[in-house]
Amino acid sequence: MHTATRTRAPRAHDAQDSQNEAHRQNGAASPPDAVPIELTINGARHALRVEPWTSLLDLLREQLQLTGTKKGCDHGQCGACTVLVNGVRINACLALAAAHDGADVTTVEGLAQDGALHPVQQAFVDHDAFQCGYCTPGQICSAVGLLAEGHAHCRDEVREQMSGNLCRCGAYVNITNAVEAVRRAQRLAASEGDEP
Ligand code: FES
Ligand code: FES
Repeated sequence: MHTATRTRAPRAHDAQDSQNEAHRQNGAASPPDAVPIELTINGARHALRVEPWTSLLDLLREQLQLTGTKKGCDHGQCGACTVLVNGVRINACLALAAAHDGADVTTVEGLAQDGALHPVQQAFVDHDAFQCGYCTPGQICSAVGLLAEGHAHCRDEVREQMSGNLCRCGAYVNITNAVEAVRRAQRLAASEGDEP
């Protein structure tokens, strides 16, 4: 019987990971190629040293233990790693940490305030907008970014502008319900604020 063996092409990350691991095993605190950067992450300022090739995603997860941000594809195709940089949603797996020196980063861990869930987080709970939950941090950060952009004016536009965030469990209907509920509530609040 023929048994297929699945292989994958080596990636630049692999060589880098090996280099980093070798460096860790040598007991060095910071590799020689590391560069200093400062980031504000969830309101806290961090002075860091990162290798020039370190992605923002790996910095968050591996160096800062902020594992709420998930690694799905590591290729910019699933949205699981979505975070907000200076208020704009990006795929952290495609962002070099060193290129964002001085930036303000918000991850899912930074959305709740004073013990209260962010309205988008609360809407995901209220609308049962997850199953396994793996995509959820990215979905929530993406939704927060989408609502700040203000370009979605109906349910279909929410769906389209969230299309970069994949959900393997297929919870799309409830995810859209949750985001749409917050969008409508914000629009209602804004219209009431306009009243004399
Ligand atoms: S892990 Fe970044 S887009 Fe999939
Ligand atoms: S809830 Fe499982 S991948 Fe989205």
